[in-house]
Amino acid sequence: MIDNSSSEMPSHDVLLVGGGGAGLRAAIAVSEVDPNLSVAVVSKVYPMRSHTVSAEGGAAAVIKEGDSLEEHAYDTISGGDWMCDQDAVELFVNEAPGEMLQLEHWGCPWSREPDGRVAVRPFGGMKKERTWFAADKTGFHMLHALFQTSLKYRSITRYDEWFVTRLLVEDGRVQGVVAIELMTGRIQAITAKSVIICTGGCGKVFPFTTNANIKNGDGMALAYRAGVPLKDMEFVQYHPTGLPFTGILITEASRAEGGFLINKDGYRYLQDYDLGTPQPKPVLRSMELGPRDRLSQAFMKELDKGRTLEGPYGPYVHLDLTHLGKKIIDTKLPFVRELCLKYENIDPVSQLIPVRPVVHYMMGGVHTDIQGATPLAGLFAAGEVACVSINGANRLGSNSLTELLVFGARAGRAAAEYALQNKPVSAGIEAQAADEKKRLEREFLHKRSGTEPIAVLRGEMQSTMEKSAGIYRTGALLEEAQADIAELKERFRQVAIQDHSHTFNTELMAALELSYMLDVAEAVVECALQRTESRGAHQRTDFPRRDDERFLAHSLVSHRTGDRPEVEYLPVTITRWPPGERVYGRPAAKTPPG
Ligand code: FUM
Repeated sequence: MIDNSSSEMPSHDVLLVGGGGAGLRAAIAVSEVDPNLSVAVVSKVYPMRSHTVSAEGGAAAVIKEGDSLEEHAYDTISGGDWMCDQDAVELFVNEAPGEMLQLEHWGCPWSREPDGRVAVRPFGGMKKERTWFAADKTGFHMLHALFQTSLKYRSITRYDEWFVTRLLVEDGRVQGVVAIELMTGRIQAITAKSVIICTGGCGKVFPFTTNANIKNGDGMALAYRAGVPLKDMEFVQYHPTGLPFTGILITEASRAEGGFLINKDGYRYLQDYDLGTPQPKPVLRSMELGPRDRLSQAFMKELDKGRTLEGPYGPYVHLDLTHLGKKIIDTKLPFVRELCLKYENIDPVSQLIPVRPVVHYMMGGVHTDIQGATPLAGLFAAGEVACVSINGANRLGSNSLTELLVFGARAGRAAAEYALQNKPVSAGIEAQAADEKKRLEREFLHKRSGTEPIAVLRGEMQSTMEKSAGIYRTGALLEEAQADIAELKERFRQVAIQDHSHTFNTELMAALELSYMLDVAEAVVECALQRTESRGAHQRTDFPRRDDERFLAHSLVSHRTGDRPEVEYLPVTITRWPPGERVYGRPAAKTPPG
């Protein structure tokens, strides 16, 4: 039994849940607004183990002659199949170059051209070369630069390896969290005047994913349970090239550097599919650099035609880098080589890499405005956990690392301003924290009668999601998934917890993470079922067309009634680019860039 909670509640001005790229950028932004503001970074892992560390290919921002902010905006909007809020995209592309240069000043070693200028590479769905990179370890270097910068602010207190179980909401505003200190099992309320959720995505809801095991939709579920809507949850991005068993990402940069995707006959099958109109000369975007949704859909069609290979972990195709040569691979893609050697015992210098589409990114997330503010007073969100929305129905590769900088900084500044209003902590907070402690004890820690193994429930959830809410969906399959997830939620009430120890109780954590994932799965399925059209990463074979009349709108799913989720719709913000065909030709803006 764990009964060592402290009645003393640590108190801060701003509290961050999550210590990855968005969380650290936000923490720095708060400290830049006012170094006297006390900032808590509460993270279930040590910050340098956050999933940002595994990002590989790069971060997009206009830097090169011949490119323009307008083109970056247009590529993002058309790539997102017109679901992006264009005001958010415009400020994103405007602020992106400044954030990237700032990161350089904080020590991020961007790869350079021989003449010393920042090097940029092409990336999927981007017409121009604008993806900054640090070899193929971009996330590692970005996170390192942010982490070391955060260390210089004495106002930032870190709660490393603390797991948040609840947002404390009283008097209509968020006022802190309840968290478990994993090392001791202590359950503790930590209060704050504003809270920013930066917990990343939820790839682990699916069986094959590039996401680390820590990506369980924690922050999405915390907000959802507090009554905050999740936006556009039906849009789940499959990355076309993950390793078949582990799901480890083989970066799009491999294709940007010239890699080919080939089927079992050694044929570059993408030439048979519509990935957008051909590029004008000079060709920057080969067919392998089409947008991710279209490439993943092409894989499924090859599967249907019997032209994929079959392995112990399902179907796959090959990524061929052999023609690039050792020098390019070692200088531009050293991590890809390392990953292939370590995890597949394959050397891409001379051998083909087996790859398949794997879940990579959630376009949807906690509903925020362009300052990162959610509808719940005092609560903000940034990074993959949030939906602001710049990614629409399909994110372009390399926009998300920049997004976490731009919107991490914005959320940090807005949360700091909110905290400076200095509203006192409500009297009811302590009682709420005590309730949460009782709930955890009742539902998990003291329970000895559970019969449902965590791994079984999790496995069933993942198979259901892959089968019904994967690359192609139908109403019938989604209805089945709806019933399956409801049943899994019911069975979860009997979850078996055999470990009642205090120190690093990983079984307890897995159970709590599963409960978060079931909430997120429910939200994805509900939104996918109700969106009876096909757009970007949401492809309904029973509704194959995009339907702007009915669905040029964000879905907002809430859990206010406590029983079934409710879905409402919010119009997409269109500023300068009216909805059009999703092609990769010239932008059609109404006015020149301002
Ligand atoms: O393939 C990649 O390197 C992924 C990049 C991204 O998702 O932005």
